[in-house]
Amino acid sequence: MQEAITVVQDRRIILGVTGSIAAYKAADLASKLTQVGAQVDVIMTDAAQRFITPLAFQAVTGRPVYTSMWQPDAGGGLPTHIAHVGLGEGADLLVIAPATANTLAKLAHGLADDLLSVTALAARCPVVVAPAMDGGMYTHPATQANLDVLRARGVVVIEPDEGRFASGLVGKGRLPETQALLGQIRRVLGREGSLASCRVVVTAGGTRESIDPVRQVTNRSSGKQGYALAQAALDAGADVTLISAASGLPVPVGAELIPVTTAEEMQHAVLAHVERADVLIMAAAVADFRPATVAAQKIKKSGDNEAGLTIALERTPDILEAVKVARADHGWPRVVIGFAAESRDLLENAQAKLARKGLDLIAANDISATDAGFEVDTNRIVLLDADGGVTELGLTSKAAVGEAVVRRAASLLRAQRD
Ligand code: C5P
Repeated sequence: MQEAITVVQDRRIILGVTGSIAAYKAADLASKLTQVGAQVDVIMTDAAQRFITPLAFQAVTGRPVYTSMWQPDAGGGLPTHIAHVGLGEGADLLVIAPATANTLAKLAHGLADDLLSVTALAARCPVVVAPAMDGGMYTHPATQANLDVLRARGVVVIEPDEGRFASGLVGKGRLPETQALLGQIRRVLGREGSLASCRVVVTAGGTRESIDPVRQVTNRSSGKQGYALAQAALDAGADVTLISAASGLPVPVGAELIPVTTAEEMQHAVLAHVERADVLIMAAAVADFRPATVAAQKIKKSGDNEAGLTIALERTPDILEAVKVARADHGWPRVVIGFAAESRDLLENAQAKLARKGLDLIAANDISATDAGFEVDTNRIVLLDADGGVTELGLTSKAAVGEAVVRRAASLLRAQRD
């Protein structure tokens, strides 16, 4: 069972499933949406039921499934002949996945000859479609023209993946994986959130500094907290740039990823992106020291190094110091949030950093605990603000820390505007 996702929790989602072989993937989507807290009502077209049964969706959503305009009562308390009104009225989102060429054509032209197309006309909530079709049907000008009509009307179209179809043909038209669909759905549900139309820059991961072409100096940061912050900012409706020294983590859907390796590269990326950013969240564990010289060739253990090797280290630039200077100059970013990983005197050290680096908020992290900090999915954070406020978040998921920090960022921004 997955942890609830705040932006999805208790939202009413209508999932329209149409007749594509990818209909089986919609069962996984319905299951994930339900697990993360949504109330999912599924409407299936006749063609969809040739690929997968209503029972599959009923089993994963725990709710009746709607299949016909004429059935007297689908079991959800709504006679189906008026279900299109009842379902559409209270819905937060209509997602059609997979959406066939036929259903897209009907939506584009306002045809209303089955429960799904009638509901789409009656509903006033945002609409997301995920086209999926075999052969050249997706790229056909007729389908593309219908998608243009839908986009112009505000419908969010999720681009299909390229790959091999059931027919053996290769091309564009595969339904994206559930996580990608879920990411797009979060984006739409969050677009009126507390950071709507704000630009947020998040740094994540531990920077790596080369000793020679093979070896590096780095630290234990996984980047998980930074990625969770980026996701929380996306869920709050922000445009997010994620400057990341981490690798192997799934990039939150909608974030612009800027991969970097060293502290210096991160500094360049941050300074290039914070101009006109509303919020900077420096969650990266930036190396404080790097080898003073980088050996051009792999350092050998023979010869001079037989008895051991001493590597001279020099300081890396302090990125937040540079941001402080830039901010004093042009006023951007409006809000700056740092992290402090400490193994002792947590609050004193964090308080000093908050003042020295000119931050609005610092998230202090006690890394001596094994259930918090590096690599694990939980964190134990205390938030200190520039007015002396102290908020203990206790042991909680990195996702929840992300949400708490994003809420504070939004209220700091609001306070500046008022
Ligand atoms: O001084 P310390 O490294 O503990 O401060 C931590 C905070 O400063 C974090 O937000 C980190 O991203 C940032 N930092 C920085 N440039 C450095 C080192 C840390 O911006 N060279």
